[in-house]
Amino acid sequence: MSQNSENYPEEYKNWSLQFFGRKFVVTPNVLIPRLETECLIKRARTFIQKEQIKTVIDIGSGSWIIGTCIADIVDEVIFIDISSEALLITEKNFTENFPEKKSRYIQSDLLSQLSPADFSSLRGPILFLTNLPYIRDEDWKNMSKDTHFEPKIALFGGEKTGFELYEKLFEQFEILCMLESLDSLYCIFEFGFDQRKIAEETLKKYKDWNYSFFPDYAGIERFWEISFEQNP
Ligand SMILES: C[S@@+](CC[C@H](N)C(=O)[O-])C[C@H]1O[C@@H](n2cnc3c(N)ncnc32)[C@H](O)[C@@H]1O
Repeated sequence: MSQNSENYPEEYKNWSLQFFGRKFVVTPNVLIPRLETECLIKRARTFIQKEQIKTVIDIGSGSWIIGTCIADIVDEVIFIDISSEALLITEKNFTENFPEKKSRYIQSDLLSQLSPADFSSLRGPILFLTNLPYIRDEDWKNMSKDTHFEPKIALFGGEKTGFELYEKLFEQFEILCMLESLDSLYCIFEFGFDQRKIAEETLKKYKDWNYSFFPDYAGIERFWEISFEQNP
């Protein structure tokens, strides 16, 4: 696939994109942010202010849009991505734009590189924000040609349903919820437009968690707000 192709995305040609009123650097190592992710960011901003969240963890941070668009209202942003190339772009741009803000950059498969001590050291309730890859591997062939230039690791979530990475993340959250030092844990997630049923099925296993769905601009419920409190 050549960069001279008529389908090569403009954002990669220009190395930049406007999102949520900001300019972002995008290279072919990161997903081109999608408009609907604004819905997650707007909800997160309201939530952070209401619950006085100090620390946000952006899992699968990619082009760093999510953590960046809430950075002005928290003390610390932790960016996690499995891709070292994506994290390099994040670190360079975030530290340039927010030189005063506390931030960390962790290359990790979901939360696997974080220890209980890492979480115990964080201030106040933690909010996880994530837009993990959720497309089924075999749906590659049905996708638009411009999408073929985006990194596969940013798009595909697994063979069977595409929801596998979220399932794995919930297993990690379940272990995290056992930590005595953790009073509460909040998450806001984005998933596929046709995955609400599987999302609900997945959560049935986690009886102590409260959740609600909320819609994108087209009215499709594809975002989730989840909370866990030790002593509700
Ligand atoms: C759909 S993109 C989202 C990027 C950005 N947060 C956004 O909303 O536009 C998913 C991101 O998750 C990362 N990723 C994929 N698998 C991961 C894993 N197992 N652990 C951590 N990050 C992962 C990819 O590298 C990619 O940057």
